[in-house]
Amino acid sequence: MSYSSSATASGTLEGASASRGLWSSRLAFILAATGSAVGLGNIWKFPYITGENGGGAFVLVYLVCIAAVGIPIMMAEVLIGRRGGHSPVNSLRLIAERDKLNPAWKIAGIIGVLAAFLILSFYSVIGGWAVSYVGTAASGQLAGATPEAVEAIFTGLLGDPGTLLLWHTVFMALVMVVVARGVRSGLERAVSILMPGLFILLLIVVGYAMTTGHFGEAVSFLFQPDFSKLTTSGVLVALGHAFFTLSLGMAVMMAYGSYLPKNISIAKTSITVSIMDTGVALLAGLAIFPIVFANGMEPGAGPGLIFQTLPLAFGQMPMGTLFGTLFFVLLIFAAWTSGISLLEPLVEWLEEQKGMNRTISTLAAGIACWLLGIASILSLNLWSDVTPLGMFAMFEGKTIFDLLDFLTANILLPLGGLLVAIVVGWFMSKQAVENELSLSESGFKLWYNTLRFVTPIAVLVVFIYNLA
Ligand code: TRP
Repeated sequence: MSYSSSATASGTLEGASASRGLWSSRLAFILAATGSAVGLGNIWKFPYITGENGGGAFVLVYLVCIAAVGIPIMMAEVLIGRRGGHSPVNSLRLIAERDKLNPAWKIAGIIGVLAAFLILSFYSVIGGWAVSYVGTAASGQLAGATPEAVEAIFTGLLGDPGTLLLWHTVFMALVMVVVARGVRSGLERAVSILMPGLFILLLIVVGYAMTTGHFGEAVSFLFQPDFSKLTTSGVLVALGHAFFTLSLGMAVMMAYGSYLPKNISIAKTSITVSIMDTGVALLAGLAIFPIVFANGMEPGAGPGLIFQTLPLAFGQMPMGTLFGTLFFVLLIFAAWTSGISLLEPLVEWLEEQKGMNRTISTLAAGIACWLLGIASILSLNLWSDVTPLGMFAMFEGKTIFDLLDFLTANILLPLGGLLVAIVVGWFMSKQAVENELSLSESGFKLWYNTLRFVTPIAVLVVFIYNLA
């Protein structure tokens, strides 16, 4: 059976691979997918939610979620993308047509595109913090700074909507420039240099963290589970973060999978990407918590955690101004490659669906996202008391920024992932799925049963617990 000819026959769309171009190699796909996965989620979000949720037990649940839910769904998403050969919405539509499924399955793609858009709106604001910290570090302000001084720099930034807007605009512009040019030319080359660089700098900070005398404390905080500290909402956060950090549940991996050549193993690449992503998150934890404990800071300090700990470390280590500047530059790159992957699905879809050219669709999507980002900026200062859905217990006290984060990571992403698991596990032709993966018989069984049973049940149970 030829996939591309059936794609052409079943819709008005062109055959897949010929006109779209493919990743140049397995490594290129791994790098791009890793570039999407490794981002603020690993370095900014993982440490702060780990701190807020009490450490070890949360980390353990998170690791289980990566293995039992994240990896199987990543494989399923890449598979949909490669088999469909189009943007996520249309890939799902074509697969539904080919396997005679209900066309409504494309809703999984639509949720994804929507979630990506919402995430990028606040992601860009945080990306802007990183941009701002390059200047802070480079100016030498951090050298020898006290914890109080470092905190004042951070609260000063959050309290200043104009500065936040400036850096949010810069970040969004960076993302739009690359997306407008197309994924292949710039992205592949950029990630292959930047990701290893980030990894090395993280190791340097971990090395410094070892000298603080509180490394052991941090290791036990991260790896000794104390289940009395784990709440059901903590489990939801861990599950949601597994989706967020692996870029799942919203069609990014489908979009990237659509450029993956047929002869490359989906399982191996998905596992490699997941391991690298988890490795970076754990390293970030090992870099940050020793500094937290050494300075008597609060692990549960929230979204500002890394912006209040890492500057301290850089302020104290030899050549800290240099390393600090480099670190925030690389953090921008990590966020940038993720931001690109967040804008890509909507742009790809606007192009295909509305027939807009790439530049126009990038501008339309990017500007809309930038505008929404302004609401997140204001909710950090002028609108810090505005809690739009505060009347519902589950959203109590959540500002617009918190709400977007909660809604996307904890609801839309798991929901999108659940739909993917169900369509691939229960509805797509098993033969087609098996061919696409070409695993050993036992490997396929393990994956298939996990995707059919473990993944959906885990997501549903966590959902029901939290909604009830
Ligand atoms: N995974 C990225 C991070 O950890 C964020 C991200 C990029 C993302 N693309 C995504 C999250 C798609 C969810 C879905 O920073």
